[in-house]
Amino acid sequence: MTNLEELQSRIASVRKAIQTESSQLTDTKKIYELRKAFLDKSGRVGQLMKYMKEVDPSQRADFGKRVNELKTWALEYFDSLDEQMRRKELERVYEQEKIDVTMPSHRRRIGNLHPVTQVRSQLIEVFSGMGFEIYEGTEVENDYYNFTALNTPKDHPARDMQDTFYLSPEFVLRTQTSSAQIHVMENEKPPIKILSPGKVFRSDDDATHSPMFSQMEGLVVDKGITLGDLQGMLDVFVKKVFGQETRTRLRPSYFPFTEPSVEVDVSCFACGGKGCPFCKNTGWIEVLGAGIVNRRVLENCGIDPDLYSGLAFGIGIERVAMLKYGINNIKQLFESDLRVLNQINDR
Ligand code: PHE
Repeated sequence: MTNLEELQSRIASVRKAIQTESSQLTDTKKIYELRKAFLDKSGRVGQLMKYMKEVDPSQRADFGKRVNELKTWALEYFDSLDEQMRRKELERVYEQEKIDVTMPSHRRRIGNLHPVTQVRSQLIEVFSGMGFEIYEGTEVENDYYNFTALNTPKDHPARDMQDTFYLSPEFVLRTQTSSAQIHVMENEKPPIKILSPGKVFRSDDDATHSPMFSQMEGLVVDKGITLGDLQGMLDVFVKKVFGQETRTRLRPSYFPFTEPSVEVDVSCFACGGKGCPFCKNTGWIEVLGAGIVNRRVLENCGIDPDLYSGLAFGIGIERVAMLKYGINNIKQLFESDLRVLNQINDR
């Protein structure tokens, strides 16, 4: 017969084992496993009951009571341990997942408009501020609108100025937005004040020319329109686009549909007009062609040239974008290279 004292020390050692073995544990999962090892049916606490038969019958009740006490104690012990552990785990999670609300956030990238679109919008903004309305023509154009009505009949030498893509003897990809002038004048009576942006096409391809590019045509027809009006409007435009100090100058030129014709130069915005590599030391940069609408063109559209006069200008949008943003190859505007495009944002 094992005496009760010996059994009591067994009970005490199980209790001690629970304490020492649990003291090394750091998470609730391990505690749960340990709890099972001691308190499951075949666990180490339950196993103590095996000794019952070795106990003197008079002391069995006492023994049973002590084992039960151990069980109750162990249940509470594990419960409270579990709770402590959970609290610690939560604290750890809180610590790890702490959010520093003062930290700078990730910059969210937003796209920007293509430089050609930016310049186009800027030009539209400037000119609509002066009362221009937008007229968009078509890219496929009748030979008559692209050339003949613009005082450039077949065999006219000026046709060589623009290498044309012919779709058929009659239709071309328009070489200039000037064709819009004819459509508008055929359909509207003066006063006319329109702006016509759009794509144009020429068989021309080098660092400053592309087979497809964009122009913005301006046309004003009214009584008493002169070159002075042209220069006044262009002054406003160049100051807005290239900066307040920019000046304009008109140089005689030739276009079949304007008489007189001019090239418009702006004072070099890189050197302020002193002369630098950018303006090839001339102090001036050519930006557009313009002139007083040729009487013949007005007549072709049924407008009396003795009563009305007009001014017209054609701006190359890519050219303005290249000048404004310092791009030296027009291809960069069509390659969609984000490294280039990301640098150009005026908005
Ligand atoms: N259409 C001309 C060109 O493409 C530009 C221009 C437009 C010139 C209007 C005079 C008047 O070169």
